[in-house]
Amino acid sequence: MAMNPVPASGVPSIAEIFKTMEYGPAPESDREALGWLGKHGQVFGHYIGGKWTPPGRTFDVINPATAKVIARVTDGTKDDVNAAVAAAKKALPAWKALAPHARARYLYAIARGVQKHSRLLAVLESIDNGKSIRETRDIDVPLVARHFYHHAGWAQLLDTEFAGYEAIGVVGQIIPWNFPLLMLAWKIAPALAGGNTLVLKPAEFTPLTAMAFAEIVHEIGLPPGVVNLVNGHGETGAAIVEHPGVDKIAFTGSTEVGRIIRKATAGSGKKLSLELGGKSPFIVYDDADLDSVVEGVVDAIWFNQGQVCCAGSRLLVQEGIAERLVAKLRARMEKLRVGSPLDKAVDMGAIVAPVQLDRIRELVQQGVDEGATMWQPSWACPAEGCFYPPTLFTDVQPSSTIAQVEIFGPVLVTMTFRTPEESVALANNTPYGLAASVWTESINLALDIAPKIKAGVVWVNSTNLFDAAAGFGGYRESGFGREGGREGMWEYVKKSRRERRDARKPTAARQRIASSQVSRLASDALPAIDRTPKLFIAGKQARPDGAYTRRIVNASGVPVGEAPEGNRKDIRNAVEAAHAAKGWGRAAGHNRAQILYYIAENLAVRADEFAARIEAMTECGKKRARQEVDASIARLFTYGAWADKYDGAVHSVPIRGVAIAMNEPVGVIGIACDDRYPLLGMLSLVAPAVAMGNTTIVVPSQPHPLAATDFYGVLETSDLPAGVINIVTGDKDALSKVLAEHDDVEAMWYRGGREGVKAVELASASNMKRTWATWDDRDWLDRDEGEGREFLRAATHVKNIWVPYGE
Ligand code: NAI
Ligand code: MG
Repeated sequence: MAMNPVPASGVPSIAEIFKTMEYGPAPESDREALGWLGKHGQVFGHYIGGKWTPPGRTFDVINPATAKVIARVTDGTKDDVNAAVAAAKKALPAWKALAPHARARYLYAIARGVQKHSRLLAVLESIDNGKSIRETRDIDVPLVARHFYHHAGWAQLLDTEFAGYEAIGVVGQIIPWNFPLLMLAWKIAPALAGGNTLVLKPAEFTPLTAMAFAEIVHEIGLPPGVVNLVNGHGETGAAIVEHPGVDKIAFTGSTEVGRIIRKATAGSGKKLSLELGGKSPFIVYDDADLDSVVEGVVDAIWFNQGQVCCAGSRLLVQEGIAERLVAKLRARMEKLRVGSPLDKAVDMGAIVAPVQLDRIRELVQQGVDEGATMWQPSWACPAEGCFYPPTLFTDVQPSSTIAQVEIFGPVLVTMTFRTPEESVALANNTPYGLAASVWTESINLALDIAPKIKAGVVWVNSTNLFDAAAGFGGYRESGFGREGGREGMWEYVKKSRRERRDARKPTAARQRIASSQVSRLASDALPAIDRTPKLFIAGKQARPDGAYTRRIVNASGVPVGEAPEGNRKDIRNAVEAAHAAKGWGRAAGHNRAQILYYIAENLAVRADEFAARIEAMTECGKKRARQEVDASIARLFTYGAWADKYDGAVHSVPIRGVAIAMNEPVGVIGIACDDRYPLLGMLSLVAPAVAMGNTTIVVPSQPHPLAATDFYGVLETSDLPAGVINIVTGDKDALSKVLAEHDDVEAMWYRGGREGVKAVELASASNMKRTWATWDDRDWLDRDEGEGREFLRAATHVKNIWVPYGE
């Protein structure tokens, strides 16, 4: 490095070092790691069913700091993936049936194994990925061990803390190269704790620590087939995603591939969690401690060479202090050290691969071309290997490429704001929503801003803090699902369902959906009807845009009324109304509860009328219709009860401070309801959504929509703010598709046929909205199936706000 020349004589004398106060190189030996690679003949197959497969067609593994080939690994074929899934399937029953305590012991043993081999793992990670040994040794590997210890605990507590839940089955996991071993731990630990077996594909750039991990699980005697590792590129990953024997996919990587996976799994019934890209804001207010801010920026964007999904890559500074902060930053950047990842004194190692280096260079050039000011320190990076200097952009337009696109390199863009409101608008001006840092000495301001930022993690006066006990994950195009903590465990368990003999029998009404007719308003000579209902949008009854209506018949085919046929335009109006009502999310839980109780009260007054209507439509019998109404009233009470009780948590993380896990409303939710229970099926979904502060666009039962249209009257007399519940009747699948495609809808719940599920999941990939789409048949009258925390979790995001304290 130019800023730290080593004298020609070699090592500087102590006296010289004292004079210059310069660092000397402090290289970590790679002997042990190279020896380990040698032991394997520098070539690896896969680890399947507890055995190493012989190497097949291989590709090179390269040390990006030296550009040298250090090993070769096998490119996994479809057959390899089939073999791995078969092994996982075979191992599943016994692993799942194991006592929780036994699984806890295995996880504990893995944690110990990681610690025992920590030096090998740290060096191997450095030479494979290019990240500095200081980070692999002090951050990656300790967090890996911590993750397995923490999840040994969840394994132990599984049957009591997740009572009524069970393993999902065989899990497919695909990870990126930026934190190879840590991402493996984030995936494998909760999967095993939940009683699942798995097939994991390491990233093609960085497979080596996963191979060392396979040795650890082998050493500790994990039953064969519980953990299977298949090497390979994107096609191998795609084979895992598409494999019918896989019950869940967990992916971390680019939003682009996340979108491909969302589409590939649509309609398959596979559970999915995605941790994708980000463009996280790092917000500095004018009362912040600027020296801490500077160190924070270093950790935010130059940690791991900026190849971090939650990197603080957008520095948003309050105008008055911008100049001072930029000057301080430049001075600090002059002193950063880029060089050999094995040198314990470097701050930044190598970029993972030439293709990533090219991508960074291109984006930086684009930034310059678009008129921003680029600044880099005066020293030069090593010429050999993949290095890139820390880079700072000022004069950046919020709409420019470098302000919007994830660069995934050591490049920081700076923008300014005047007021806190403006800072929030700027922070949220991105399709992503992974993380944010907020810097201010005012706790008042910090905790006011944190909930307003659309991000799954907010660090107050800190950045890039991770721990196994706190959930991590995004909003919007950063994906969905959480990793770590109790919230992460939910991704690896599913509700145990009792077998029901009648479950899949189609009802008469469902079969007759196709025969219900859409006709021009009042153009048909229908039997006398009491009224023609409208849609319910923005708190008012609204005529359908198309002026079409659908004739509703009972189970015997006799007309019982008409419902308006909503269209795309009606849905758009409803979404707009739901957006305008978002203040509902800030209403106190107590107030939301009051309104839900009041809705229940008004429904109770009209119970007979609703029961008669349900009976007329479904011919289910008087008693059963009455039961449905009574259960609907009770369900509203359930969520009135929950409205102020679904508490978040304060996670026990190893910092001086707190990590507050806050349950936040998801936002605007599209809800397409169950066909069978016209009232209860609707309220079982709408009530939890509304109780948690979401606003909704509801598509009621398609064959039996009239209980929903009758319900307008109940809503109108219940003090519910306009736009919180909007109801659009009509063709359920067509309307659901419009909702699922809509970029201003943040989540889509759908209950219907398998084709409908597929269409919703496919369409949701546009803005990566969260979906909860199922074709299972629920008995809504059953409290265990019809209500509870499962619904509340779907209605909320967990935001983890880290607040370190102390002087
Ligand atoms: P990538 O998303 O292609 O790779 C991540 C993993 O997905 C790898 O294991 C890869 O083999 C696998 N994969 C690729 N295509 C697949 C497919 N069709 N089906 C299943 N698995 C597939 O990311 P890549 O190409 O390494 O990096 C490109 C850009 O993505 C980076 O410049 C960065 O912007 C972003 N990225 C973001 C990450 C994050 O954590 N947010 C991590 C890695 C990359
Ligand atoms: Mg490599």
